Amino acid sequence: MFDRHRRLRKNQAIRSMVRETILTPDDFIYPIFVVEGENIKKEISSLPNNYHFSIDRLDEIIKEVVDCKVKGIILFGIPEHKDEVGSDAYDDNGIIQKAIRKIKELAPELYVITDVCMCEYTSHGHCGIICGHDVDNDKTLEYLAKIAVSHAKAGADMIAPSDMMDGRIDAIREGLDENEFKDIPIMSYSAKYCSAFYGPFREAADSAPQFGDRKTYQMDPGNIREAMLEIQSDIEEGADIIMVKPALSYLDVIRWAKDRCDMPVAAYSVSGEYAMVKAAAKMGLIDEKRIALEMLLSIKRAGADMIITYYALDAAKWIK
Ligand code: PBG
Ligand code: ZN
Repeated sequence: MFDRHRRLRKNQAIRSMVRETILTPDDFIYPIFVVEGENIKKEISSLPNNYHFSIDRLDEIIKEVVDCKVKGIILFGIPEHKDEVGSDAYDDNGIIQKAIRKIKELAPELYVITDVCMCEYTSHGHCGIICGHDVDNDKTLEYLAKIAVSHAKAGADMIAPSDMMDGRIDAIREGLDENEFKDIPIMSYSAKYCSAFYGPFREAADSAPQFGDRKTYQMDPGNIREAMLEIQSDIEEGADIIMVKPALSYLDVIRWAKDRCDMPVAAYSVSGEYAMVKAAAKMGLIDEKRIALEMLLSIKRAGADMIITYYALDAAKWIK
């Protein structure tokens, strides 16, 4: 006697009844890159089929997102002007602040998350304030809180800090609370690894460090216990959602986070994950649609409650 597992795989009907994980457009968050200027919709060479949008052309992509029934976006800004302290990041007329106001006009119901970091705004490309040869943790916290408050003022629904400074959730929570934004949640990039998979994004966001690397603040890819410490700190400091990033090479971390914390877990399927599939598909080596959906499904199966992905719109259309 042996078990006949194949009985429940016999046809499409029974397979769909026993399927444990199903993707829906509600699972996805779509990243949008906003640039200064006019009449710009320019394909990002490192992220095919993703674009730099100027504010006056955001209506096109926002309409597409809403039509696809994707409920959330995460915004990244590329400012015209960079300096040592990334002042455009907390300028009430900065690129992101203007974009948020525009998007809230276009689609008030669309959930707008903002990435809070300094690397797109600093001349040196690091995620904080430089003192000597390294990022000064505590000095950076003041700036992160200022950035978060200015995003909230512009109308952001949720703040997502990606800098990996210690104590940032505490600092941002305090800043938001003091400015009457007690109801704005924080999605923390809690377990953000120092990963080569961010390469295409840094080209897209012009945010590569001009010297050194991010190893003193982003996590070592070999570590998982440390991820739990990072997540624990963020929860204690007041994070509402925790994130693991990248996704595909860190499915074990997603599962750990899911099993050990009673919190929503987000996963960021990053630029390198997307670009690899795009490149292989272009070469005719793989079936893009099936590969992309299988990747997203595996991220959800690992425990992600929501997935930030450059495939959000395609995937939402494919699963319709
Ligand atoms: C900014 C930031 C990065 C990503 C999201 N926010 C880049 C980095 O840390 O260097 C990566 C996203 C991606 O690769 O898709 N700190
Ligand atoms: Zn950064």
